[in-house]
Parts: sequence; structure tokens; C-alpha cells
Amino acid sequence: MPARIIGTGSALPEKVVSNQDLEKLMDTTDEWIKSRTGIEKRHIAVTETTTSMAVEAAVRAMEDAGAAAEEIDLIIVGTVSGDMCFPSTACQIQSAIKASNATAFDINAACAGFLFGLSIADAYMKSGAAKTALVVGAETLSKMMNWEDRGTCVLFGDGAGAAVVRSEEAGIISMVQGSDGARGNALVCHNREVNNPYVKNSCALDYTSMDGQAVYKFAVKTVPLAIMQALDQAGVSADQVKYFILHQANIRIIEAVAKKMSQPIEKFPTNLQECGNISAGSVPILLDFVNKEGKLNKGDKIVLAGFGAGLTWGAAVLTW
Ligand code: ACO
Repeated sequence: MPARIIGTGSALPEKVVSNQDLEKLMDTTDEWIKSRTGIEKRHIAVTETTTSMAVEAAVRAMEDAGAAAEEIDLIIVGTVSGDMCFPSTACQIQSAIKASNATAFDINAACAGFLFGLSIADAYMKSGAAKTALVVGAETLSKMMNWEDRGTCVLFGDGAGAAVVRSEEAGIISMVQGSDGARGNALVCHNREVNNPYVKNSCALDYTSMDGQAVYKFAVKTVPLAIMQALDQAGVSADQVKYFILHQANIRIIEAVAKKMSQPIEKFPTNLQECGNISAGSVPILLDFVNKEGKLNKGDKIVLAGFGAGLTWGAAVLTW
């Protein structure tokens, strides 16, 4: 049986940083950021960590779903900014919530991480290997930014979103994912270099660099195609979809996708205005916002879509 989302949760850092706050830190303006991206503010971690936000989001999703920790048999976290190389964020969530029956691991599919995680959970459920899973997207991107590079740091925020998914009769109808490693240079953050007794390199950690226009072109071309492919596989028309919940990178990307799909922009909820781009966290956080606003009814058809570094992309059509 497929995976069905039965509860959502999210957690954002307490500190809110507006575009005006950034004007005081660097040579930028509210007008530039807002007109180019739609972003007005973002939440930035001060006391929070990727794990603490992921745990908070997971607990809220379990409360929303009415799911007990011992029922969770799979925990998947999409993240590029875990607090530790190991143990994984997923294992740390397992420990915090005492989900001792779960198999737990992280995946790196950048901004498509939640979609990739959902597809793995769906495959586990269809094979009978899991019944109730936590799928989480959690990021502290602020620690991966060069705060002297105004071209990147203004775009991103921190936060976590989570969904409890359960093997049920109706749920995910179709999913498509793809990757294009050959174009991976468009969005890069290096890990440590090789450093050992036989080769000496600096152990300095790198920051995020991006070819914004390449990412923009990739997103506006690939995302509508992926969504249409998923809709086609599901036998659902775009008109039947209540909401398209897209990765929150840039309002212009979302508007371009809506236009290409001949769908009204009102069907594309956004929270990038107050959250910025939270990579793997964006889709589940927005899904939680829409769910908690009471906008989703049982039986609604929803599309989720993520895209980002790798390059990677994923789209899902599901019944709420
Ligand atoms: N404030 C003021 N000026 C800035 C800022 C800033 N924060 N950042 C860059 N500029 C300047 C540049 O220095 C440049 O100045 P110059 O012409 O004097 O050299 C000018 O603005 C134009 O810079 P571009 O990078 O060409 O700006 P562009 O119009 O391409 O907009 C943006 C940049 C918003 C990133 C755009 O390329 C975009 O939307 N890309 C999509 C990628 C994206 O959203 N990435 C997010 C992460 S990836 C993901 O999640 C999928």
C-alpha cells in the first residue's frame, strides 16, 4: 500500500532577520531582495540546531498524526546541514523521541531532499518493509553561507519540517525524481579536503557558491516538466489539483511554473516571504503551514515539488 501523509509539523528559529536588518550588515537593499526573490525576512538559528529543529518538527508532526514513538519504524531526514557527520540527524531524532523500533538515516538531495525521502518511505511501504515513517527536511543553512557574499546569504533561512506517513489505501499516487550531476557546479559547497599523514591540505570549510541564473533556468524548465510527468502518471489533471506546494527558492520561479502550467497563482501557496529558502525544509514547512491553516480536506489532490543542488528534482501527486 502507498504512503499517506497523516500529520505535519514544523519548527523555525526564534530570531527573525528582515531585509532591513541585512541592509545594516552588507551592501544590499530590501528593494533588491524583494524584487528579485520575493523574500522579506528569514529565521536564523542562534540557539537552535538542525537536530533541535528537526526533533521539534517531528514531535509536532507526531502530535498532529496521533502517532506514538514506538509505531515509527522508519526515519528519513533530508539535510545538507546536519550538526554532525555521524551519527545522522535521523539517528539523533530517533534517540530524542525514543523511536526505538525505527531504522533511521539521512539523505542528501539538497532542496529536493524531502521529496526523495518521501519516495523512499513510499517504496518501503509498498514493499511492506515499513508501516509508519517520519520524513523530515531540516536545515541550518546560515552556517553554510559566506555572510560577506550578498549574492547568496540573503536568499536562505533555517528551519525544519516533518511529516508522518503511514501505509494506507490512498496517499501518494505518483512520484518522479531526477538528477543531473553534470550540471552540479551551479550550486556547490565543498566538504573538507583530503588531509592525512600523506597529503596536507587546509582543513578550512567552504561556503555555498551559486550560479543563480543557471539555477533559475534549470528550475523554470525542469519543474513544470517533472510535475506534468507526475500528473500524467497519476492520471490527474492540473485543474484537479488544489495546491501546488513548491520548493520556496524564489517567487519568480514559482510564478513561471504557474504560468507554464496555465494554473492560477492562487493555487501556489508561498511562505518564502517570511522564511526564505530552507532547502530540504522548504516543502514540509510550507505543507505544515497550509495544513495548520485548515486548507486541506481529505481527498484533495496535492502536488509537492522540490528542486536544487545536485542538480536534483522531484515531484509527487498525492491524495490528502
Ligand atoms: N543586493 C544587492 N545587489 C546584489 C545582491 C544583493 N543581495 N546580490 C547580487 N547583487 C548584484 C550583483 O552584484 C550584480 O551587480 P553588478 O551587475 O553590478 O555586477 C547584480 O546584483 C545582478 O546580479 P545577478 O546575480 O546577475 O542577479 P540576478 O538578477 O541573476 O538575481 C538571483 C540573482 C536572485 C539569485 C537569481 O539569479 C535567481 O533568482 N536565481 C535562482 C536561483 C535561486 O533561487 N537559488 C536559490 C538556491 S537554489 C535552490 O534552492 C534551487
